[in-house]
Amino acid sequence: MKIEIAPSILSADFSRLGEEIAAVERAGADLIHIDVMDGHFVPNITIGPPVVASIRPITKLPLDCHLMIENPEKYIEAFAKSGANWISVHIEACDLSKLLPAIKKLGCKAGAVINPPTPIEKIYPYVELADFILIMTVNPGFGGQGYIESCTQKISDLSRFISNKGLKIPIEVDGGIKPDNVRKPVAAGASIIVAGSAIFGTKDYIAAIKSLK
Ligand code: DX5
Ligand code: ZN
Repeated sequence: MKIEIAPSILSADFSRLGEEIAAVERAGADLIHIDVMDGHFVPNITIGPPVVASIRPITKLPLDCHLMIENPEKYIEAFAKSGANWISVHIEACDLSKLLPAIKKLGCKAGAVINPPTPIEKIYPYVELADFILIMTVNPGFGGQGYIESCTQKISDLSRFISNKGLKIPIEVDGGIKPDNVRKPVAAGASIIVAGSAIFGTKDYIAAIKSLK
């Protein structure tokens, strides 16, 4: 299985954001993961569409916008217009049966996200509407937290559900993933790995991405 690495810019040096993105692109990143937080759905505030628009021209990589916000239906168009290529929305924040088709209609890949406490079965009715599923392996809000071990089982359950249906929908995982534990989600069926502190918290991005891959 091909493994893709999505560095989360949440852990980048925001005063040098353009250079940080160029550096992970040179180092072999496959996507740029952008964590959007509103201070309501999660207890932290990060970035919005204007930042996505300023990043868009400086990288060839797809921009993977993870919306940790309430009422995401109000914002998907602004993110798509700003240059987001992938947009993911939480099952805990919206009606996926409406939002996933709406994201696709805007020309973006549509992702369904599920938090650690939400049972994986809750996402099953929406799997066929999604281009990818993002399983959170920490409670969203902050970079640098520890991987929640019980999420590994959710990844294998979803992976089995997808293959039993004869579908090929990639599973992305996000939170607490480092070279020393990345085998767990990958063995369970994940193929897109978000990593913030495990990349931007090191000096050598080439080595960090290589060891994750
Ligand atoms: C958490 C974010 C993650 C976070 C990952 O709310 O969705 O993308 O930046 O950071 P690490 O890899 O440091 O756990
Ligand atoms: Zn994220």
